[in-house]
Amino acid sequence: MSAQDEKRNAAEAAVKYIEENTIVGVGTGSTVNCFIDALEPIKHLIDGAVSSSVASTERLEAMGIRVYDLNTVDHIPVYVDGADESDAGLNLIKGGGGALTREKIITAVAQKFICIADQSKLVPVMGAFPLPIEVIPMARSYVARELVKLGGDPVYRDGFKTDNGNIILDIHGLQITDPKGLETAINQITGVVTNGLFAHRGADVLLLGRGDDVETVLPQ
Ligand code: A5P
Repeated sequence: MSAQDEKRNAAEAAVKYIEENTIVGVGTGSTVNCFIDALEPIKHLIDGAVSSSVASTERLEAMGIRVYDLNTVDHIPVYVDGADESDAGLNLIKGGGGALTREKIITAVAQKFICIADQSKLVPVMGAFPLPIEVIPMARSYVARELVKLGGDPVYRDGFKTDNGNIILDIHGLQITDPKGLETAINQITGVVTNGLFAHRGADVLLLGRGDDVETVLPQ
């Protein structure tokens, strides 16, 4: 069973959490693309979606699913998104695809955050995957110097611009033993839009593809 099969199994399991006649929150990435595909048979049962990226919006609209502006929506029972890493507390690193800020905004509104992933994403301590930080372009060098003080090794994501017109610094070399503390500390740096740690608002459920099965992991 490949990682792609595990992603697809996890994505299909997430469809069962969707409530009829509601707006579904949709994240970004290769696992979410499987989730969008899995919406096809039930798309007539939902009101529509809010989306965390231009890429997901285009996919949803191509399927005939209406995508709402988040400012017109105050109730999102379920948000489904992937992750780059998760620890046992369901603290996450996200933003490998650069959509972290919009993902974090929708996560804040949603009542339930269902994370979908293949088994490689669950790790004892996060940090092997470089932590993405969205930064206002003119603050890039200053923010990078401040991130070094926090013990990281920031690398500019060359040639990449977020959907919000900003840049990404990926921090290498972290061992994230205090996800909430680090999330707060990075967000205090002037010029940071947000960082890819989802700890203050982590996932409520992790659906983890493991071989032929999907494991339901709750935060410890
Ligand atoms: C997008 O910005 C990310 O947060 C994704 O959710 C994350 O990178 C997981 O992506 P994959 O599902 O492609 O691994």
